[in-house]
Amino acid sequence: MLAARAGAKEVISCEKETLVAEAAREIIERNGFNNKIRVVSKDLESVELGKDLSEKADLLVSEIIDNGLLGERVIPLIKYAKKKLLKRDALIVPGQVAARGALVGANSALRKYQIDSVCGFDLSPFRRFYPPTVPMGKISVEEHILSDPVDLLHLDFQSGPVTEQGRRLMEIAVREDGRAAGLLQWIRLRFDHDLILENHPGAPSKTWSPVCHLFPEPVPVKKGDLFHISVEFDDEHLYIEPKGVAGKT
Ligand SMILES: C[S@@+](CC[C@H](N)C(=O)[O-])C[C@H]1O[C@@H](n2cnc3c(N)ncnc32)[C@H](O)[C@@H]1O
Repeated sequence: MLAARAGAKEVISCEKETLVAEAAREIIERNGFNNKIRVVSKDLESVELGKDLSEKADLLVSEIIDNGLLGERVIPLIKYAKKKLLKRDALIVPGQVAARGALVGANSALRKYQIDSVCGFDLSPFRRFYPPTVPMGKISVEEHILSDPVDLLHLDFQSGPVTEQGRRLMEIAVREDGRAAGLLQWIRLRFDHDLILENHPGAPSKTWSPVCHLFPEPVPVKKGDLFHISVEFDDEHLYIEPKGVAGKT
């Protein structure tokens, strides 16, 4: 509706869930955009040029980003749209997306996953059943963030080739002594040159909340250490693995 209101000649809205698509049609009608917006109720990857879309589009606006960035399959979906449905110079919004991260110490939001000792019994073998990523509520940044933030993954949908997998090793500068329980991850979306949304844990945000990639066990760190991690992604997940701590920065 924003695109239609801003003057787009024709808007095709793609929604795979039938009930959501029905509600979207109702909303479009209520707001008087029936003659400009058409809802195609199918999976984007089965939308066909010449059938669902009369010509390739000039603009793609999407929100298929979850808290962990990749879980709603944004990479393959944008790749499909670029290949089949968009003009070569089409504008993509958001055009660049990133996963950002920082080391996080043990805190109340993570306590329920820290089941080493209960009533004096060592239950640490249950650690192997931890989910690899867990949702994080609000935490105090000053108290719990142990490192500088880093870009874990940066995807340029607008200008770059859309890659569906990759792996790299990186180092993170530790700035507080503590025990790193995992890597806190949040997202940054660039909508245009000036407009950026980043749900850093310290930022007031009503939208996505950060997630935490739990380490198999907490790693003691000291200010000045370099913490090594492996960052791997496929078309749906980001995998973080701690690789140890090296000397002073
Ligand atoms: C995160 S929601 C968007 C919410 C909306 N932008 C808002 O702010 O209220 C993503 C929507 O995209 C739809 N969706 C996800 N993957 C899709 C796909 N492959 N094809 C079509 N629709 C899809 C989901 O059903 C869901 O309704």
